[in-house]
Amino acid sequence: MTEHRASRPHSGGPRRPAGPGYGRDGRDGRDGRDFRSGRAPRAGRPPSDPARQAAYEAIAAVHRDDAYANLVLSEILGGMGLHGRDAAFATELTYGTLRALGTIDLIIADAAGREVARIDPPARDALRLGVYQLLYTRVPAHAAVNQTVDLVRAVAPGASGFANAVMRTVSETPLDGWLTKVAPDYEADPIANLSVIHHHPQWIIRSFAEALGGDLEETARLLIEDNQPPAVHLCARPGRADAIDLADEVDGVPGAFSPYAVYLNGGAPREMAAIREGRAHVQDEGSQLVAAALLAAPVEGRDNRWLDLCAGPGGKTGLIGAIASGRGAEVTAVEVSEHRARLVDQATEGMPVTVLPMDGRSVGRDPDLPEESFDRVLVDAPCTGLGSLRRRPEARWRRQPADLPPLTKLQRELLVAALRAVRPGGVVAYVTCSPHMVETQVTVSEGARRSGVEVDFVDARPLLPPGMPGLGPGPTVQLWPHRHGTDAMFLAVLRRTS
Ligand SMILES: C[S@@+](CC[C@H](N)C(=O)[O-])C[C@H]1O[C@@H](n2cnc3c(N)ncnc32)[C@H](O)[C@@H]1O
Repeated sequence: MTEHRASRPHSGGPRRPAGPGYGRDGRDGRDGRDFRSGRAPRAGRPPSDPARQAAYEAIAAVHRDDAYANLVLSEILGGMGLHGRDAAFATELTYGTLRALGTIDLIIADAAGREVARIDPPARDALRLGVYQLLYTRVPAHAAVNQTVDLVRAVAPGASGFANAVMRTVSETPLDGWLTKVAPDYEADPIANLSVIHHHPQWIIRSFAEALGGDLEETARLLIEDNQPPAVHLCARPGRADAIDLADEVDGVPGAFSPYAVYLNGGAPREMAAIREGRAHVQDEGSQLVAAALLAAPVEGRDNRWLDLCAGPGGKTGLIGAIASGRGAEVTAVEVSEHRARLVDQATEGMPVTVLPMDGRSVGRDPDLPEESFDRVLVDAPCTGLGSLRRRPEARWRRQPADLPPLTKLQRELLVAALRAVRPGGVVAYVTCSPHMVETQVTVSEGARRSGVEVDFVDARPLLPPGMPGLGPGPTVQLWPHRHGTDAMFLAVLRRTS
């Protein structure tokens, strides 16, 4: 018999919202028909619930157009004029369905008796949304089934009978039963088991487990955390705001680690005066910590020429620029994308920051980026983003191992450029928002080797606030959502010695 890890299988799954209009008695306040009566929904009847319709449209756009869920959903919600509970329900349905997609597809395939690839995309996405409601929310089964059949009738005429049959089959077994059926046995194949239970592709779980020293119990804790929507963090810009005062102002809580961090309890950041006035910006606490670590590393002699080699959209430049104002330093911010370079410009208004829209690998070839000329350099390298999967529900299924070779080549080249740009005695911080060892340890050692300059590793742990737990043996640092409540940021600090 197959088994899943029953102890904690879905504590990490999405929370189970009642959804607007649904009482604890299980009655659907909008559509009380019992699907078991077999009464067919009326032909051509559009889906009655705008939240579900918004979620369906967002999920379809993600799969049809490669859209980003957060961007497309916010457009759809705006277009439909959805706010408050409806918008929250649509968001939960969209994000939850996209996160759990791999497992939902296994369940649909089993119930339908065919691969999901052989189901028409509109019917397939409507079924995914329906199965998510059935198994992962407190939406009553009859409402999930009826609404899904109505939706399929509207988006895939002719497939409503099929959808009705699949939804009825799925509704006959609770989530635990489905997981037992579709998840491989943990003892026989722990990674495959964790993949189904905690909704991550196997290659990503393997890379997390490797970075966690092979500890699968801890890996499971990370996967659970990855399925939770992250709290919004603000960065109180030094010299412009104080984190304690800002926390009072926005009804938030001062961060546990970064002296600049405030955790929001709710509210829309863009409507906050502190954001509008440039006293703070939205930034994960982990990003604040690694940017501040670059500026905490000791350097001998001159310390007023700083370089941010991959600056867009300007989150870390915003913090570095604010600190530069107080320390009499100047920041050069390089960004290859013109659009993102403009965002850096906006994010650093009033700061001693010069933005250069160019390729960071032009060090030594462009007069604005001479070799051996900067005291501190940040390389916040383009990466797979596997450390911020909490924020982008579709990313885990969209990313592929084939993304790694071109990215790691670019990362190495940018690190080599940074090591050439820094003066002897200066420091380079190499940062990724990915814990994949190929993007972290391998890139750092290979980049350092190929740069042709001599470097020492600086122990990055004392560059973070005292008392931070779980930083490992050094000299590099890997932050983790389940240990630190941050994105999984990696930091290596190198000092150029020749
Ligand atoms: C991880 S993001 C940086 C995030 C940024 N530091 C922040 O905190 O907001 C990486 C950035 O590097 C840029 N990039 C990619 N290739 C580059 C290159 N060759 N030179 C400079 N920037 C590059 C990307 O456009 C992207 O904006």
